[in-house]
Amino acid sequence: MTDLAKLVASHVVDVPDFPKPGILFKDLTPLFADGMAFREMVDGIVDHYGREGFDAVAGIEARGFLLAAGIAYAAGVGAVPVRKAGKLPRETYTASYELEYGEAALEIHRDAFRPGQRVLVVDDVLATGGTAATSLDLVERAGGVVTGFTVVLELSFLPGRERLAPRDVHALLTV
Ligand code: PRP
Repeated sequence: MTDLAKLVASHVVDVPDFPKPGILFKDLTPLFADGMAFREMVDGIVDHYGREGFDAVAGIEARGFLLAAGIAYAAGVGAVPVRKAGKLPRETYTASYELEYGEAALEIHRDAFRPGQRVLVVDDVLATGGTAATSLDLVERAGGVVTGFTVVLELSFLPGRERLAPRDVHALLTV
């Protein structure tokens, strides 16, 4: 395990039965609340791709926003939100995806990127991969070129990575 993986592991808090009975929620808020850990996490991600390796960072609602803001600042690039439906004020691209029960939709502003901009997409957790797959498609519809997808925590007992293949997934910690 890398030092960064150990750092993440030491900050993850398992919360049983949240948001529903039977679900073990992985709470990463302590990682963001620890200033040194947050900085090491951001620097680790920027170093992985290289400071010149991407032109923009897209964060997936909601915890991906925190990560995207830190990475954008550290790398000197802009941050773009991928939001739940109905939250963005101007013209959007919309894509729906399946949840365990029902459907959800994500949106991105149509003019979020300049054509060909290299975009690093980030989120806190990769579980089934539905959120990520939909977000990556939206980034491309908006003219971005996905140059990487990073999560803090990958749940390997769910098929997120397979669902995103052949795209590469960079996870700071896989459990
Ligand atoms: C969580 C998490 C990821 C997504 C992963 O977000 O932050 O975005 O689920 O799940 P998946 O791989 O099965 O799609 P959530 O939908 O809880 O939204 P929130 O961050 O706005 O609370």
